[in-house]
Amino acid sequence: MINKNPTKTNAWKKLQIHYNNYMKHIHMNEIFSKDLYRFEKYSIQFNEIFVDYSKNIIVDETLDLLLELAKELDLKSAIESMFIGEEINQTENRAVLHTACRNLSNNPIKIDNKDIMLEIKSVLKKMEFFSEKIRNSEIKGFSGKTIDTLINIGIGGSDLGPCMVTEALKFYSNNKIKLFFVSNIDGSHIYETLKKIDPETSLFIISSKTFTTFETLTNANTAKNWFLESAKNKDYISKHFIAVTTNIDEAVNFGINKENIFIFWDFICGRFSLWSAIGLSISCYIGFDNFKKLLRGAHEMDLHFRNEALNKNIPIILALIGIWYNNFFKTETEAIFPYDQYLHKFPDYFQQCNMESNGKYIDRDKLELNYQTGPIIWGGTGTNGQHAFFQLIHQGTKIIPADFLVPIEPLNNIYDHHKILLSNFFAQTEALMTGICKEDALKEMQKKGFDNETIQKILPYNIFKGNRPSNSILYKKLTPENLGSLIAMYEHKIFVQGYIWNIYSFDQWGVELGKKLALKILPKIQNYDNNLNLHPSTNALINKYKSMKQDS
Ligand code: F6P
Repeated sequence: MINKNPTKTNAWKKLQIHYNNYMKHIHMNEIFSKDLYRFEKYSIQFNEIFVDYSKNIIVDETLDLLLELAKELDLKSAIESMFIGEEINQTENRAVLHTACRNLSNNPIKIDNKDIMLEIKSVLKKMEFFSEKIRNSEIKGFSGKTIDTLINIGIGGSDLGPCMVTEALKFYSNNKIKLFFVSNIDGSHIYETLKKIDPETSLFIISSKTFTTFETLTNANTAKNWFLESAKNKDYISKHFIAVTTNIDEAVNFGINKENIFIFWDFICGRFSLWSAIGLSISCYIGFDNFKKLLRGAHEMDLHFRNEALNKNIPIILALIGIWYNNFFKTETEAIFPYDQYLHKFPDYFQQCNMESNGKYIDRDKLELNYQTGPIIWGGTGTNGQHAFFQLIHQGTKIIPADFLVPIEPLNNIYDHHKILLSNFFAQTEALMTGICKEDALKEMQKKGFDNETIQKILPYNIFKGNRPSNSILYKKLTPENLGSLIAMYEHKIFVQGYIWNIYSFDQWGVELGKKLALKILPKIQNYDNNLNLHPSTNALINKYKSMKQDS
């Protein structure tokens, strides 16, 4: 991997000139009318996924220069470094091998001369065995009743991935397993969950890479106490608590049987871990065969990413276009709009995946950056978003590059719902791009029979400047395979951007400071230690909290 400030490359300098002299003044309406083959040129088909990136403020020269940037930084070798297990997460001395979990090709992958595929396969076997037993109602609780309820306790990467995927693939569940996710330290989360479940038929999956995360352990202990109120006997814990972790010792200390621990490894970064044993809840919920299809879809995207030429490579193209907006148009955010209710947690998932990966201001040479890195990721389902925040995207003062995702075939074909959904999908991306000029807005108002006074009053508000970029991502159907490919596509986009921005995408030091402070503050809140050396503003605020608490 080359460590280089991208702004020092020739390609970056040329991109800056290209932007200043030409592209910042260009409207997509103009470039579309000049290039009849734009749609064909700026789209890529991959298996059952079609990516149309023609509605972006780019021309051939832009793409050529962006690809030149990737070549100048030798992106292809960086990609290879990840796949072969080089220690690319250098601040934590780790390889980054979530791709190994879905490596269905039988190729060995070695770390320190050891083929990690052997262990990966054995954990997969264990997951298959366990999830089939759960699904066949073969696992019994302490009272002999069948376990039919799973509660995943975890946070961040140990929650968002399985939570998003099980929501997305709900259609494929057999509806026999009830599944809950508890993540928040706020007691209301676990309280509301425990209210709905039966200790005799519930099994808790404590998911934590480190098994030291405060939120997860607090929730796990609360669940254990709640369980023991009914079970009365600590020996029964092993029947109702299992763990997914890299830290076997801590899981055993918690009271979990060694055989009930599903391991994963340091080379799997938390926010990329749904492919590992962290996906156990997925496998139980939709069945191991479907889980394997999810892995297969991701693996196929891995092959595409690793082998396809730069200019036909979906994650690379999407990443480069993202850099174009982030660093030249200086856009601040990027939105993801799935027109698919099952994908309602997709934006949340990629919020962590992207922002924890690329929210960095120190480069790989330990220097502070003089350019922007990770965008703020947000989004929500279409058409709900249209009735909530789309106003700002259409007529606000900010440009928000957006991805629109939609299935060709709905999983539930009900009356005309899907056709109406699709018409909205197509309409939004066109409206964002073309806008509506003054003359056309005027004609429309006249056609509607508005009087002159009304027209004068509201005409300016009915003009849309357009030129708002979007990618349209169509997939045949929300199958486990297609979902796997879509997730891997975004994962690789994040990798490419982090690499080009010359940052370490797979560490997360930025989350530590707040965690440490919370631990320091807790004794004061618990009244164990009131003489802590805290910042005066925090001290004053805590004292206010205490006096308000006394008053209540
Ligand atoms: O605090 C952030 C973080 O470390 C994430 O990166 C991670 O996904 C999450 O906490 C949970 O960590 P763990 O799986 O170790 O409990």
